[in-house]
Amino acid sequence: MAENKDKNIPHAQEVDRETLTTRQGHPVTDNQNLRTIGNRGPATLENYHFIEKISHFDREEVPERVVHARGAGAFGYFETYGKVGDEPVEKYTRAKVFSGAGKRTPLLVRFSTVAGSKQSPETERDPRGFAVKMYTEDGNWDLVGNNLKIFFIQDAMKFPDMIHAFKADPASNVPNPQRMFDFVSRSPEATHMITFLFSPWGIPATYRHMQGSGVNTYKWVNEKGEAVLVKYHWEPKQGIRNLTQEEANEIQAKNFSHATQDLYEAIERGDYPEWELFVQIMEDDYHPELDFDPLDDTKLWPEDKFPWLPVGRMVLDRNPVDYHAEIEQAAFGTGVLVDGMDFSDDKMLQGRTFSYSDTQRYRVGANYLQLPVNAPKTDVRTNQHRGQMDFRDKKENGENPHINYEPSMLGGYQEANKEERVQHRPHYNAQAMSEPIDRPNYYGQAGETYRSFEDWERDDLINNLSNALAVCDKKIQDAMVYHFTQADEDYGRRVKEGIEKKMEELQKMENKVPGREAGQSKFGQGSLA
Ligand code: HEM
Repeated sequence: MAENKDKNIPHAQEVDRETLTTRQGHPVTDNQNLRTIGNRGPATLENYHFIEKISHFDREEVPERVVHARGAGAFGYFETYGKVGDEPVEKYTRAKVFSGAGKRTPLLVRFSTVAGSKQSPETERDPRGFAVKMYTEDGNWDLVGNNLKIFFIQDAMKFPDMIHAFKADPASNVPNPQRMFDFVSRSPEATHMITFLFSPWGIPATYRHMQGSGVNTYKWVNEKGEAVLVKYHWEPKQGIRNLTQEEANEIQAKNFSHATQDLYEAIERGDYPEWELFVQIMEDDYHPELDFDPLDDTKLWPEDKFPWLPVGRMVLDRNPVDYHAEIEQAAFGTGVLVDGMDFSDDKMLQGRTFSYSDTQRYRVGANYLQLPVNAPKTDVRTNQHRGQMDFRDKKENGENPHINYEPSMLGGYQEANKEERVQHRPHYNAQAMSEPIDRPNYYGQAGETYRSFEDWERDDLINNLSNALAVCDKKIQDAMVYHFTQADEDYGRRVKEGIEKKMEELQKMENKVPGREAGQSKFGQGSLA
């Protein structure tokens, strides 16, 4: 028996549609009823269509990203200006993706929050991911950035601990701000990032209204093999909008997906979001004149010394048609650079570069780069084949399909000619060691950022920090106040007073206090705000 053909269901018979098939291409004649002994059951084992359907359903989810699990994505293009500010781009980089004016390169962007799980609210106080994959004529280029221009830590070794502290308590599975501030209070380099995160900049209103930044320092390499240090920044043409905690709470009460919805609906109605790409450039050097290391990702490069130079613009004009295939399985990584770009010695960048493709081999599978969303639009000629789900569109392997290794005199692929490109060859003369960087300058820019805020932003920062720290252990409160005081005396004093005031309030509402914990986000806002 097929579908219930009750003629009383309005419009049930109206649509003329294509026939449903199994994944083997067979027409499905009954998608409603199991094959059973009599119509009450039991079921028989040869229910091939049912077993295929249910067993595929049982495997529908892949592991979510260990960070940045909650996200949204869209497709579009990057258009070059052909210049870096007023200068020809070729002076600094031979990357073709930037050369010529008005050239378009197709791309994918995925925006995300960091700590929450796949369906968590998009109103969290959290950095936002801003990952771009450009399908360039020289293969893929990924720029995996965040909305804020700096980061919490200076060394990749600390990342797993940091994320453990930011996520839910491993015993109770309840987010607890104390764990996060416990870690941060022993990581003074995070003071600058915390200052941004607890200000209104910590909750972007939507993905369309936020900036993006590569955060880490990369290199550009020109035809002569000369390198400069470079930082990337995306500036939204829609303007920047952030939410206060109260505004975020109000949205969160009604909608966990407001940012995904906003992006999707804007593109559907033809209101295509756009960002301009800027770079900051620095000579590839130690820069002893600066009071920080240029490779330290907790620092901003001062704009007056290193101006933002426009290089192109990005437009998002197409929504995914299959979220799982095109966005969930998308794999971005900091190792994905094209000719004309290189890694800087930034220790964070180097740690990240191992981590992304490593997790993707686990999360998506060894052949994740064969998926259409991850594959370059250029030809792939590789001997890295086989493994699960190898579905390459196999090309003629050079002259000889029997040769899947290199070098060979019998055929197969051969290396590109190294001589055609002058290599960038940085020189090293130092001992191997496990030591923090020099010029850590934990507090200087944190204080400058605090003083640069408008009054209402500072008030909001103090309020958010006081609320979160009021529920922390005294040791953690004292350490955090110490860090803020080092950044700026007024900052430290106001947080201290704010914590005391909030704790008094909490004491007064003593009976209600236990209930507050359930509503807290990891940064301690929720029902306390
Ligand atoms: C995602 C590691 C720092 C931005 C991820 C993922 C890992 C990871 C394992 C999941 C990737 C996936 O499942 O596809 C690390 C490590 C870091 C680090 C080890 C430090 C050592 C950063 C920094 C930024 C950043 C500083 C910002 C510049 C992102 C973004 C995503 C991501 C945007 C999501 C990419 C997407 O949309 O698929 N990171 N990360 N991460 N990370 Fe990092």
